[in-house]
This record gives sequence, structure tokens and C-alpha cells, in this order.
Amino acid sequence: MELKHAERLRGTVFIPGDKSISHRAIMFGAISEGTTEITNFLQGADCLSTISCFRKMGIPIENEQGRVTVHGKGLHGLLAPSDILDVGNSGTTARLISGILAGQAFSCELNGDASIQKRPMKRILEPLSAMGANVKSIKDNGCAPLAFASARLHGIPYQSPVSSAQVKSCILLAGLYADGTTSVTEPVISRNHTELMLSAFGAEISSNGTTVSILPHPKLRGLQIEVPGDISSAAYFIAAGLLVKDSEILIKNVGVNPTRDGIITVAKEMGANIVIQNKRTVSGEPVCDLLVKSSDLHKTTISGSLIPALIDEIPIIAVMAAFAEGKTIIKDAAELKVKESDRIFTTSENLRRMGAAVRPTEDGMVIEGNPDSLYHADFESYGDHRIAMSFAVAALALNGTSTVHGAECVEISYPEFYGDLAKLTGVSSFNK
Ligand code: S3P
Repeated sequence: MELKHAERLRGTVFIPGDKSISHRAIMFGAISEGTTEITNFLQGADCLSTISCFRKMGIPIENEQGRVTVHGKGLHGLLAPSDILDVGNSGTTARLISGILAGQAFSCELNGDASIQKRPMKRILEPLSAMGANVKSIKDNGCAPLAFASARLHGIPYQSPVSSAQVKSCILLAGLYADGTTSVTEPVISRNHTELMLSAFGAEISSNGTTVSILPHPKLRGLQIEVPGDISSAAYFIAAGLLVKDSEILIKNVGVNPTRDGIITVAKEMGANIVIQNKRTVSGEPVCDLLVKSSDLHKTTISGSLIPALIDEIPIIAVMAAFAEGKTIIKDAAELKVKESDRIFTTSENLRRMGAAVRPTEDGMVIEGNPDSLYHADFESYGDHRIAMSFAVAALALNGTSTVHGAECVEISYPEFYGDLAKLTGVSSFNK
């Protein structure tokens, strides 16, 4: 994809459905009784992988005209799949579905693409095994492919070494099938969509500090769910509006759950002109519109308890830091290494290509901001959707014409991304 320097960005963008919430709506709908109707469902490849896995387990799911209908079969209604469950590139599908599979009375296998086969699954295999699950890494390397067989699960208190909503959700879902209370304590609270949505479906789930507890064998009932827009997708437009001179854009339908909205906190702390408008609640989640204007940004430090609330936004925050005055420090974010790509490497490498002074560290990076030293570049997505989108935005703020190689991977979380971005620059599409 070729992206030229943009003179200005103007207009309105409506943010597509949240990826995390879309996955959960399918999964929880499938194990509930009755119908779950989902609107503004994210039609990204990751969420389609979740639909395909549940269809393979006998759940009828219609996906037509902007509405997804899941015909749930209850906690014990899934059927043994006749084929391997393929999660594609989706870590959320792999880890959350594993909690459900651990509680089933059938055997099955789960696998995914080359990236999934490198991502750590030990973080769920250990607690699931402690609950009595019969699950293993087939190649015994702590990664997918995974094999599941039936087992009786018992509830455990689990102290997670990482703050990860995928790990937390996996264990809580297994807890639905256990013989007593299951609880998960994490170092810092991670996104809480599972807690909010499972409770709305009828689960007995409660939070106390960074501990979440769930009781087994609830009667889950189907729901109507409108999926709020994904703040992780909105982040690219926030950055684009701030970095491209003479811009003013309205970003509509942005989910601002406090466990996810770290990008807004950080952008404001860097000097961003962002006005929050029309705050409302959609399906139990806070949502708003954001008015963003070009701003001169300055350095910041991002660390500690803020990290889980912006973990997926660090590549685009790093781009903002390269255009900001002063030295930005990102630390306590070693989780970046085990995302769809090693994002410490892939972000630093692309920043370097555009002339930014960046030093990767063990748990983050240090970026010496200097807008005057930056120039157009050939970027590589490394097959990672968030890297492709981050550097497409950088390209609009750089001089000349930049190229993003492997740009099509935005399909994973935002199929309309380039079209939506192009419209703000006044053209209908970018050149491929
Ligand atoms: C997600 C949790 C996060 C995030 C991912 C989606 C979820 O992963 O990076 O994109 O939907 O629960 P971790 O739980 O591994 O931090």
C-alpha cells in the first residue's frame, strides 16, 4: 500500500465493533440458552475464526445484513467437532475457547496459523491443568496445536503472574464447568469485558480489587448485544488527527471502558487536543465520540498499571512519540514480545526506517522524539495488523510517499481501515 503525505484530515469516521467484545458475544451466546442477537459485530478475520469454531461444534450462527444471530445450546450443548478447530491468527479465540473446551465431555484439537503456533499457551495450560483439565501441547513446546480430552474440573484460586484478559477469561470460562468457586488474581487489572458480559448473560461473577471469582453451572440466557466501537481501532485515527497538521476529525462510537482507555490518558498527557463528547452506555460498556485536532505533542513515560489499559496501542503511541518533542520511555511492557509479532522489535525496526532515534529494551523502548529528522520510508507489517495500521498513519504525517508492505493483514481487526483513512484525506482509496 502506498501512502502519501496528507495536507490535512477532515471528516467523520464511525469505528467498527470491538474485537474483544465481538469474540465474547459469540462464545457466551453459544453456551447460553436461547438466541443472542449481535449488532455492530466486528467482521474481522479473527472474529470470523471464532464463529467458524463454534459452527464446527454444532452452534447455528447466522451472519447477515449487519446482524449476527447465535442459537445457543446451553453450557452442555456443544458437539464434538469432526475437524480441528482452526483459530487462524486469533490469540483471543485460542485462549478463551480453551477454557470452554477444557470443560467439555469430548476430545478435540485446536490449531492456528504460524504466528499462533509460536504464541505462549503455557500461561493457560498450567492453570487449566491445576483445575484437572486434560489438555496438552501436542508438540510439547507450550504452544498450539493443543489437544483436549474430557475431565472433571475443580475450582481453584489462581494467582496469575501476568495481567492478561485472555488468561483470566480462559480460567473463568473453565470455572463455569468446575465443582466449586474459581478465582483469578492478576497483578494489575486487565480488560474486564468478560466480567461485564458474563454477568449480563446470568453468570454469578464478582470482582474485588484485582481478583475475579465465578460460581459454576449457572443458567446462561441469550441476550441482545450492540458491540461498541473498538478503542484499539480508534487509536489510529486519534494519532492521525493529532499528527497530520491542520486536521480536525470526529471519531464516532468509541468504547471507553476504563480498563481500555489508556491511549486517551496518554495522548492528553502528551498535549493532545481531544474533546470527549456524547458519553453514553451501550450494552453495559461506556461509549463516546472524540473530536481530535492537530496538536504539538511532547514526551511522556508509560509504565506500570497503565500498560494493560493500552497494551495494543503501544505501536501507535510509539509513532506519536517519534513526532513528539523529547524522550519518551515505555517500560513494563514485555508482553509486547508475545503479540501477533514481537512488537518491541517490529515497532522499533519501522521507527528506525523512518529516521526515528529508538532504543528497544527488554520491556519496552526509548524514543528520542524529533519530527525534523523523520522522512518517508518502506515499512514492513510483519503480518501484524497493528503494525500495518500504525505505520500507515505515520506515512500520512511524513513527507513524500511511504509504502507499507504486507498491508492486507489489517483484515484481522479492521477490514475497512484504508478506505476509512483515505476518506479523511479527501480521496476514496490509496494506491496498492
Ligand atoms: C485481549 C486481550 C489482550 C489483547 C488482545 C485481546 C482480549 O491480550 O492484547 O488483543 O480480548 O482478551 P492479553 O490478554 O494476552 O494481554
